[in-house]
Amino acid sequence: MTSVQSARATAHANIALAKYWGKSDLKLNLPAVPSISMTLDRLVTETLVTRDASLRADRVFLDGKKAGKNESARVVQMLSRFRDAAGLSDSGEHFCRVESENHFPTAAGLASSASGFAALSLAASKALDLKWSTKRLSAMARWSSASAARSLYGGFVELKAGKAGDEKLAANPIAGKDHWDVRLVVAVTAKGPKKVGSTEGMERSRKTSPMYDAWVEQAPKLTRTIKRALKARDLDTLGQAMQQSTMFFHACAMSSAPQILYWQPPTIAALRTLERLRDRGVSVWATMDAGPHVKALCHANDAAKVQRALKKTDGVLSTMNLSVGPDAQVVTA
Ligand code: DP6
Repeated sequence: MTSVQSARATAHANIALAKYWGKSDLKLNLPAVPSISMTLDRLVTETLVTRDASLRADRVFLDGKKAGKNESARVVQMLSRFRDAAGLSDSGEHFCRVESENHFPTAAGLASSASGFAALSLAASKALDLKWSTKRLSAMARWSSASAARSLYGGFVELKAGKAGDEKLAANPIAGKDHWDVRLVVAVTAKGPKKVGSTEGMERSRKTSPMYDAWVEQAPKLTRTIKRALKARDLDTLGQAMQQSTMFFHACAMSSAPQILYWQPPTIAALRTLERLRDRGVSVWATMDAGPHVKALCHANDAAKVQRALKKTDGVLSTMNLSVGPDAQVVTA
């Protein structure tokens, strides 16, 4: 190893078609339910990791600024796990500077931990000279944020539920980027970060929602339906099950104590817009994450129509039309 070694990697955000909500093991960050996602093309994080023997601690910069305490701690924790697993000491020789940039169109409030930890795991493995498989990197990313495990791969990706002690649980790709030309039209409905992060939302749902056990029991069935429909390119079947997966996890959040209501008035307005489009024969289906934005899945040739309708919807601030994205990649040069 030389005294300074750097590597740059990109990873794309993903949208879960079958949602992950809830953990079966907090320490290993294992999901309680299986999930399936689609990687997204234009939501990219680019991360440069430089291992520098002159550093006395890891240093973290996000979008050009020194990272806050919590963000920095999560990054350092991931780097420590890498060093641990590789048998490298947490010492001067192996400390790293991490510079991460989100290249997301406009300040949409969509920045996610998924692309961030996926890009970090790939760049860190190269900067530390580790010849690890993508599968192993996906398991490392999962440990920091389960949705990040899926962002190592392009196309359509599955992450199974974790069984006790399943330290190596990783995502696996189930269909390539060119399998299906569907689009995700995002309607941004509010500014600023969400009030309750997904990790906290999941835990509160598990501990207090009377619907949580039913969710954990039913989610595998929805995921199976979504996987079959994805393989068969059957958007109506996939869309129906995807909406149910979203509504079910939001129902867990809403029925928690204290309640977690991610929706805003424009969220409902956007959902109604999609209902009206469906009434007119357009196959368009809603999904949402732990926030107020509505994300509509449709065929490529309906995307312009869907985007126009969402743009006109009361309270919608901006829209984006996203395609299926590629694998996480090392950036050379
Ligand atoms: C609603 O992956 O952010 O977006 O593992 O605690 O970091 P942690 O959670 P995270 O949760 C994502 C939740 C979701 C659904 C999904 O992406 O599957």
